[in-house]
Amino acid sequence: MDYKNIILKKDGAIGILSINRQNALNALNTEVLSEISKAVDELIHDEEVNVFIVTGEGRAFVAGADILEMKDLNSAQARRFAQAGLDVFRKIELCEKPSIAAVNGYALGGGLELAMACDIRIASNYAKFGQPEVGLGITPGFGGTNRLQRLVGIAKAKELIFTTDVIGAEEALSIGLVNKVVEADKLMDEAMSMANKIAQKAQPAVRYSKVSINRSAEVDIETGMEIEKNLFGLCFATEDQKEGMRAFVEKRNPQFKGK
Ligand code: HXC
Repeated sequence: MDYKNIILKKDGAIGILSINRQNALNALNTEVLSEISKAVDELIHDEEVNVFIVTGEGRAFVAGADILEMKDLNSAQARRFAQAGLDVFRKIELCEKPSIAAVNGYALGGGLELAMACDIRIASNYAKFGQPEVGLGITPGFGGTNRLQRLVGIAKAKELIFTTDVIGAEEALSIGLVNKVVEADKLMDEAMSMANKIAQKAQPAVRYSKVSINRSAEVDIETGMEIEKNLFGLCFATEDQKEGMRAFVEKRNPQFKGK
């Protein structure tokens, strides 16, 4: 498919979705959100893709939702705009394939919310993170009040959202907002290397693990352990479980088939 604001590439089993609206620092308008949604559908349905990376072209990851598009909305239109972003970010979060945000620069407002919908965040040392919304007279609306507190705790989330402070990559690492910080020119190599490491494992097990972690984060621990047990059981209906354990016994590397 042809995209105006997205570059979608594939490198082996890794999909790379790069947002490319550089004249607005990759700000998310309705068109960009719709293209991200279609690109994520392509990645989900592409059987060769095991893991995907989300990044931005130029000096920003994403500098937020498009302020020009939002400024004259009424409440009903604003709710629809929020829903469009919530839906596409939830699609990334709930799809079974792992995603890595390679945060190359500004991740502000909707940009941070997009990064937080990914499973793992790797930041360039130039990356900047923040939720500037209350300085614009709005609340975060693409999941920020929900996901930030789950990642960094309620008190830090409130501090970042109430003050709109923009923090650098090292501070983001220290509060658990990102998994890793690397030199800017190593960012994509690091993201690819982590993605390839994941892509070489047994994919049914990787996907069930993602489902189990996500679902159990939203339920009580008894229900969560029930979910874990059932997904563990499902692994034993896969060829990769047989192969993984046989390879261990035979002291060789497993040859996984992804089923
Ligand atoms: C629309 C944006 C934009 C945005 C940048 N641009 N961010 N356009 N929406 N969110 C545009 C600028 O207007 C400018 O266009 C061009 O990108 C380059 O940006 P500059 O400001 O000239 O660059 P710089 O001086 O380097 O400053 C970078 C920046 C600043 C600090 C990131 O652009 C900035 O503060 N942007 C807004 C960040 C923000 O508040 N994000 C949260 C949005 S609210 P021109 O045409 O002048 O060259 C949000 C809500 C999510 O995300 C939930 C919705 C439901």
